[in-house]
Amino acid sequence: MKIAVFVSGGGTNLQNIIDAVESGYLSNVEISMVMTDRDCFAIERSLDKNIRTYVLDRKTFSEDAAHNLEGEDIDLIVLAGFLSILKPEFTQNWQNKIINIHPSLLPKFGGKGMYGSKVHEAVLASGDKISGATVHYVTAEVDEGDIIVQGTFEVEDEDQVSDLQRKVAEVEKKILVEAIKQISEA
Ligand code: GRF
Repeated sequence: MKIAVFVSGGGTNLQNIIDAVESGYLSNVEISMVMTDRDCFAIERSLDKNIRTYVLDRKTFSEDAAHNLEGEDIDLIVLAGFLSILKPEFTQNWQNKIINIHPSLLPKFGGKGMYGSKVHEAVLASGDKISGATVHYVTAEVDEGDIIVQGTFEVEDEDQVSDLQRKVAEVEKKILVEAIKQISEA
C-alpha cells in the first residue's frame, strides 16, 4: 500500500509511521511522498529518509496536492498533524482514502479552530477526566468522518496543557500506525 503523508509541524507522527515501516510493523506500507503546507521540522525528517517532499503553497494547497498526486497510484493519504483544511473537491475525490489524527476523543473537542493547544485547553476547562486521540476518515466536514481507532488517557487534576500534549503524543504513537495497519491489511 502506497501512502502520502501530509504534515505541518514537528512531524512526530510522521516519524512514528517511518519507524513502523522500518521495524516491519507496517510491512506492506510504503511512504511514497510527504507534503507540507509550511516550513516545519517534519520536512527534515522526511528528507532525512529521502522521501519525496513537496512544500505546498498556502493559498493553493488543495490544487497543488491534487496535482502532485496525479498518476501516482496512492492508496491512502494520512493527515499527520496537517493544519490546513482541504477543499471539498479534494476530499470528495479521495473519499474513504484520507485519514486524520486528532488530539481528542471525537466528537468531543473537534471541528474548525480546534487544533493544537486549543484542544487541550478546552479539555482542561471541561473538567473531563478522560481524554485521548482519534484516527478517523476525512470528509468535507472537519473532524466528522467515521472513526477508525481511539486511544485514551487519564487527565489528572494537576495536568497542564504540556502534560496533555505529552500524553496525547503517547496515545497517537500507537493508534495512528494501528489504523494504517488495519487499512493496509483490509
Ligand atoms: C498532533 O497532536 C496531532 O493530533 C495534531 O498536531 C499534532 C502533530 O504533531 N493535530 P506532529 O507534527 O506529528 O509532531
